[in-house]
Amino acid sequence: MNEQTLSMRLERVAAHVPQGARLADIGSDHGYLPVALALRGVIEAGVAGEVAQTPYASAQRNVRRNGLEQRITVRLADGLEAIEALDRITAVSLCGMGGDTMCEILDRGKQRLSGSERLILQPNGGERELRGWLMANGYRIVCEELLRENRFDYEIIVAEKGDASAYSAEELYFGPLLMREKSPAFITKWQRMLRQKQQTLANFERARDAIPQEKRSDFACQVGWITQVLA
Ligand SMILES: C[S@@+](CC[C@H](N)C(=O)[O-])C[C@H]1O[C@@H](n2cnc3c(N)ncnc32)[C@H](O)[C@@H]1O
Repeated sequence: MNEQTLSMRLERVAAHVPQGARLADIGSDHGYLPVALALRGVIEAGVAGEVAQTPYASAQRNVRRNGLEQRITVRLADGLEAIEALDRITAVSLCGMGGDTMCEILDRGKQRLSGSERLILQPNGGERELRGWLMANGYRIVCEELLRENRFDYEIIVAEKGDASAYSAEELYFGPLLMREKSPAFITKWQRMLRQKQQTLANFERARDAIPQEKRSDFACQVGWITQVLA
């Protein structure tokens, strides 16, 4: 992967960035996403935010190598602190980190958001919690995707502030749009998850006393939801 050839995962994230957007890519690592989008003429300007020195230097190098210093600013910053009012950001991407980390970044930095930005999120796990954060903070999920690459399932969640949506527990778990669409990738993922969860539940039953009742009930509930959604 490089700024010319993105992974399929980042390519699908890129597809949700509106033409002419001013993008803040938080946790940008090498900066491939904003660099690719600037080279393609999709974004007008971008910020690549990184908390760690090595990826920050790598993003700087890639921006410089592609002659994009005037259009992409690379900032060494924690989460949304990379965004400044003068950037006039219209889209924020957070990709390739845990959903819990994303919730924490969004929650700590929400005063940096005007509320008009599109959020494009690709969490590695913790999707349920992330959707919960979006709902609690007045976001509506406008698009969702599920894809498989290199033996991993990835979900992409696109959200915008708008009419508050009240999602059910199942919608937060599967994704309100994904569970409605039930694509082949969705069915395959949840068939696989059902087998794993049933196995875990059987292990829990064998070690009954060592596993808190609450945890066993949560797993049993998940197995019920998955069975239903696949029915
Ligand atoms: C696995 S990489 C993903 C890179 C890229 N976004 C992608 O999807 O390919 C996660 C990056 O997030 C950065 N990161 C983690 N927490 C962060 C935070 N609070 N603020 C900014 N960057 C963060 C890490 O340093 C790392 O470079």
